[in-house]
Amino acid sequence: MTGQVTLVGGGPGREDLLTLAAVRALEAADVVLYDRLAPYEGLTRLAPTAELVDVGKRPGHHAIPQHEIEELLVEHALAGRHVVRLKGGDPYVLGRGGEEVLACHRAGIAVDVIPGVTSAVAVPGAAGIPLTHRGISHLFTVVSGHAPLTDDELTHLAGLGGTIVVLMGVNSLPSLTAGLARHGMSVDMPVAIVERGFQPGQRTTIGTLADIVFAAGRAHVTSPAIVVVGDVVRLAHDGDAEASDLMRRAAGFAAVST
Ligand SMILES: C[S@@+](CC[C@H](N)C(=O)[O-])C[C@H]1O[C@@H](n2cnc3c(N)ncnc32)[C@H](O)[C@@H]1O
Repeated sequence: MTGQVTLVGGGPGREDLLTLAAVRALEAADVVLYDRLAPYEGLTRLAPTAELVDVGKRPGHHAIPQHEIEELLVEHALAGRHVVRLKGGDPYVLGRGGEEVLACHRAGIAVDVIPGVTSAVAVPGAAGIPLTHRGISHLFTVVSGHAPLTDDELTHLAGLGGTIVVLMGVNSLPSLTAGLARHGMSVDMPVAIVERGFQPGQRTTIGTLADIVFAAGRAHVTSPAIVVVGDVVRLAHDGDAEASDLMRRAAGFAAVST
């Protein structure tokens, strides 16, 4: 009998941000292929009967290439096992979930997808940054910083007037900020970088389009991190209401509408 594959969105890394459906899928799994950014620390408890396979990148640990992950999914399912592919955030947000689903379909394997809490929204929220806020921003765009953005993309992003959320954007921060400024965004636009959201050591670095590269260098900002560009950054507080208030007033947002 052929088994099945369930792609599970593991959320931004904290176990209590798994969905109930995710917990049930893990309980029923025969094998779990998990990523570095998924909540893997409690996996022996959450998936007590499963073989656990680490396919994620970590310093000193060689990542398994994407095509090999897909081959593993198919191989285990063809051996009749219930395979859970536990991914960070949501499987369909910059997570190559679509490729894994297609690989299963091509092999004739049934596949379900359980959505997860995406870091794109949750991590800015963990630092007190709402992606939309009445009177400040009514739209947000999520982009990958893995490869530099094209001039066309930068023109649209700089002209949209909403919030920009960049995943995998630490290395490309200089080209992003220079590109947005070159395409007309004010160099005073606030920018935040939120590292290790929901993890011990979560930290937010705040600056402007003009100086965030310097601030990030000085603070030795590292991945995983989310970059947020937009006026909503003025509302950042990291859970500290007093700091938030000070920041709002300093930024001239005393009359923010709620
Ligand atoms: C390959 S993408 C996967 C995104 C995932 N599918 C999601 O929906 O969150 C990995 C990037 O997500 C971001 N990320 C994921 N979890 C994070 C966390 N806990 N804190 C900060 N950034 C995170 C980082 O930008 C990281 O480089």
